[in-house]
Amino acid sequence: MSNESELNQLAQKLPEWLEASRSVTSQGRPASYIPELGHAPADALGITVMDGSGRVVTSGDCGLRFTMQSISKVFTLILALMDRGEEGVFQKVGMEPTGDDFNSMLKLELVEPGKPFNPLINAGAIAVSSLIHGVTPAEKTERILAFFRELADDASLTYNEAVYRSESSTAHRNRSLAYFLKDNQVLTEADEVEEILDVYFKHCSIEVTCRHVARMALVLAMNGTDPLTGRTLIPRRYVQIAKTFMVSCGMYNASGEFAIRVGLPAKSGVSGGIMTLVPGRYGIGVIGPALNDKGNSIAGVHLLQSLSVHFDWSMF
Ligand code: DON
Repeated sequence: MSNESELNQLAQKLPEWLEASRSVTSQGRPASYIPELGHAPADALGITVMDGSGRVVTSGDCGLRFTMQSISKVFTLILALMDRGEEGVFQKVGMEPTGDDFNSMLKLELVEPGKPFNPLINAGAIAVSSLIHGVTPAEKTERILAFFRELADDASLTYNEAVYRSESSTAHRNRSLAYFLKDNQVLTEADEVEEILDVYFKHCSIEVTCRHVARMALVLAMNGTDPLTGRTLIPRRYVQIAKTFMVSCGMYNASGEFAIRVGLPAKSGVSGGIMTLVPGRYGIGVIGPALNDKGNSIAGVHLLQSLSVHFDWSMF
């Protein structure tokens, strides 16, 4: 089916599918281990789908602002790859899923001491934050923001101060992961743990709507070229690496199930956001703050499954 007729059909059916998915929000709840995230509306659900000509189909609470949380890790990984190359990044983080929770310490001690299994778990993303070029943490954060603003096509994109502070003041486990990385020389002598964590908390707190996420995902769907400006923002190889991690580790330890049920590269965050894409066709942003027991938006996954099954979007 052409994008145009598919999007026409989507525009017609989306409100009905969205309300059906909204009904499962009562089976989940917003994350509260970062206290500020606990205030999000539990029954909210919104989605934006954008195609390569900039046509947008949207439904539900897509005006809701939320922080990217782990969705940001896809783009800090890409920026680190652009700064350090594949070798520089894969010296510090591995390429394998863990099967454990995103903040687990378990495998850090078991295999290749200290080296995080992949860049999308917390330990791996903290290591990636240390690889972003910049002399000071503020400079690293500015470079991350500049890159995200370009991808989202919004110069006003910034981080949410309240969420940043809320995470920074309660992140005992992330602190322990970071000190563990330092002890194992994954973070170097020059890397001040608190400074690297500051970069990490700030990029997790970058505030967006579904439209920003869909716009950023569209660049990935088009292998690094922004179809609306024609500019190449990311080398194709780095998009390939990022999308592969999205398939194998993007939905935490539910990535296998998501690959079977939905079949698209995706990355979720504990704020309830999901970024996904249909290769060569659409960028998609979803928000649904109520999470399932794996930490993914319960209604967001439900909705994406309905769409993927109906339109036969699975890559596999
Ligand atoms: O570090 C944390 O716990 C949050 N800033 C992000 C966690 C998240 O979204 C899930 N991570 N893979």
